[in-house]
Amino acid sequence: MLFKQQALLRQKLFVLGSLAIGSVLYLVARVGTLDRLQPICPIESRLPPAEPEQIPIRTLQYKRGLLHELRKGNATKEQIRLHNLVQQLPRAIIIGVRKGGTRALLEMLNLHPAVVKASQEIHFFDNDQNYARGIDWYRGKMPFSFPHQITIEKSPAYFITEVVPERIFKMNSSIKLLIIVREPTTRAVSDYTQVLEGKERKNKTYHKFEKLAIDTNTCEVNTKYKAVRTSIYTKHLERWLKYFPVEQFHIVDGDRLITDPLTELQLVERFLNLPSRISQYNLYFNATRGFYCLRFNIVFNKCLAGSKGRIHPEVDPSVVTKLQRFFHPFNQKFYQIIGRTFNWP
Ligand code: A3P
Repeated sequence: MLFKQQALLRQKLFVLGSLAIGSVLYLVARVGTLDRLQPICPIESRLPPAEPEQIPIRTLQYKRGLLHELRKGNATKEQIRLHNLVQQLPRAIIIGVRKGGTRALLEMLNLHPAVVKASQEIHFFDNDQNYARGIDWYRGKMPFSFPHQITIEKSPAYFITEVVPERIFKMNSSIKLLIIVREPTTRAVSDYTQVLEGKERKNKTYHKFEKLAIDTNTCEVNTKYKAVRTSIYTKHLERWLKYFPVEQFHIVDGDRLITDPLTELQLVERFLNLPSRISQYNLYFNATRGFYCLRFNIVFNKCLAGSKGRIHPEVDPSVVTKLQRFFHPFNQKFYQIIGRTFNWP
């Protein structure tokens, strides 16, 4: 009986002992695994070292937060002072070309944390009445920004208005100038489509594009038609070059901004001496719109207004060819000046 009890006790001790050894072995193994998964160093030291020129991430948040409130006029003077916010004159201007994709370019550049856009077209330099109001009026139209950010405005009329280059030069002779261009005939048709839509909205009739673009007496291209004249890019650029060296301009390919915006935006980032911050994450193709749209962050994204990306009316192919032939020599000169070639006919 006693022998039987001792054997039972030995058995229990053996089981308990095995369990204890098993647990110890498990813990050793587990701690080892955890050790491997979690580095011992404190959390902070595992963060990548901050690049000195890096724009604080807060800036981007403010763009959707405080700066947005400021734009709506909801922020207090105290907040402006506290955050060291200022209204700065633009350090870069999108001067044109109308219907080249100026709005898309501005909105896309605004994805960059170091860029702040003036939402409205200010028309300071091309409108005599506005210009007479003075530079402080112009500055007052600019959005609030942090001192390290750059403000950009766009007024496409600047490109074709004679007095503008001299006026901008007087404000800042080292300003950076952005011009976005599209294939000239397409741009002219886009220009026509916008005007046509305006007329239709007012229940007004309007000529067909062919009638405006071709002089019925000579059967030649009508160079008096504004949509044609605006597309002679070299003529306008030459006026600008009387004031600014060609290095101060960057020409954006508006056709490529539609199909491959990131590549064009990265070229602009480089021109503006900005660190590359706009990424593929910020741009997504919206099949319904047929265009790229903008993603600022996980909650905020937007496409351009419906007035951008209109359906163009069909144009007589012989008129298209005539226009393309007309623009060809001007395009060649344009390429020569800017040192960049486009796939235009
Ligand atoms: P269309 O309406 O002829 O298609 P702007 O802003 O200078 O007026 O230019 C308008 C043009 O921007 C549009 O011309 C459109 O093709 C072009 N565009 C470029 N990227 C765009 C985008 N992501 N969304 C909408 N339109 C865009």
